[in-house]
Amino acid sequence: MISIQSDFSLKPFNTFGIDVKAKYFARFSNLKELEEILNSKEAMQHEHLVLGGGSNLLLTKNFEGLVLKNEMKGMEVIPASSHDAFLVKSFAGELWHNLVMFSIEQNLAGIENMSLIPGSVGAAPMQNIGAYGVEVKDVFESLEAFEISTGKIKTFSKEECQFGYRESVFKRALKNKYIIISVTLLLHKKAPLNTTYGAINDELKKAGINTPTIRDVSNAVIAIRKSKLPDPAEIGNAGSFFKNPVISKADFEKLKNAYPDIPSYPSGDNHVKLAAGWLIEKAGWKGKTISNYGVHKNQALVLVNYGGAQGSEIYNLSEDILQSVKSMFGVELEREVNIL
Ligand code: EPU
Repeated sequence: MISIQSDFSLKPFNTFGIDVKAKYFARFSNLKELEEILNSKEAMQHEHLVLGGGSNLLLTKNFEGLVLKNEMKGMEVIPASSHDAFLVKSFAGELWHNLVMFSIEQNLAGIENMSLIPGSVGAAPMQNIGAYGVEVKDVFESLEAFEISTGKIKTFSKEECQFGYRESVFKRALKNKYIIISVTLLLHKKAPLNTTYGAINDELKKAGINTPTIRDVSNAVIAIRKSKLPDPAEIGNAGSFFKNPVISKADFEKLKNAYPDIPSYPSGDNHVKLAAGWLIEKAGWKGKTISNYGVHKNQALVLVNYGGAQGSEIYNLSEDILQSVKSMFGVELEREVNIL
């Protein structure tokens, strides 16, 4: 039985903790409920917003349409082509971290570096989430999505998702056309663990671990994240607010002359990825607080709401940061978070 609520506060449903209202709000835990909601007059007459964990979203105003909260749950392991490989299928309404924990309990490797990323399973492929050297696309098998205009379920392969750095076709050409229903990953019992990211190695050494298990890597990632990133349950935030910018090698050489200690990572043959957090820190923003919101003290890429801030205030802060990084380094930052 579905219920469509009116003038509904979205505060508990976005990790920034912004208090705006949706004109209508409804939850679905299976396809029948989703269809019922989409056939309602509220859905027919208004725009839709599908919410997963609300962890990559900045709400700057009331939403004058229908918010659909995906609560489809369930996870299963399916043997794949070899004795070592397994498909893990999860419905989109599960928390991503619960899927990571489920996989580790099955002794399956591949997503342990993405432990503790807030948000839902359905949102993970949408922006190709990633951390500590691994992205969803590295373990992605397929996903099922509900086409809003036809009510048909379509299976998307990795190629069809057009994954990029924090990008997929669902943020671009197919934006608002599909609702992700389930995600299937290909994981392995004997996959090599990815501990190349310096901080993971340091953390494992600190714990005296030489031959880490899947869970050891997950624990190391959890410790690093807890030390650097604010917990959205305590301080409102949406993780990295900006993407790490990619610039040409020629532009990078000029910057390197002026700032010899600038961190950089290779990105294809002719480009270099910069650390947006470093640029923002150098521009003087790290730890800056403006009344009840600001820039996190341990990670300048994260904007925070200490409680009661307006989404538009945080947006304006992001605009100021963008401008000052541009005038200092000539580099244009791009927001990672979806603005509504
Ligand atoms: N740095 C600074 N000052 C800061 C923050 C970072 O100088 O305030 C420097 C660090 O010292 C380091 C470099 O910037 O040299 C990179 O920092 P870090 O390892 O913390 O990672 P990041 O590039 O800032 C990215 C992802 C994170 C992910 C981490 C770890 C993006 C936009 N962000 O951050 O993802 O957890 O790498 O893999 O790609 C997210 O997307 O929401 C997110 C948290």
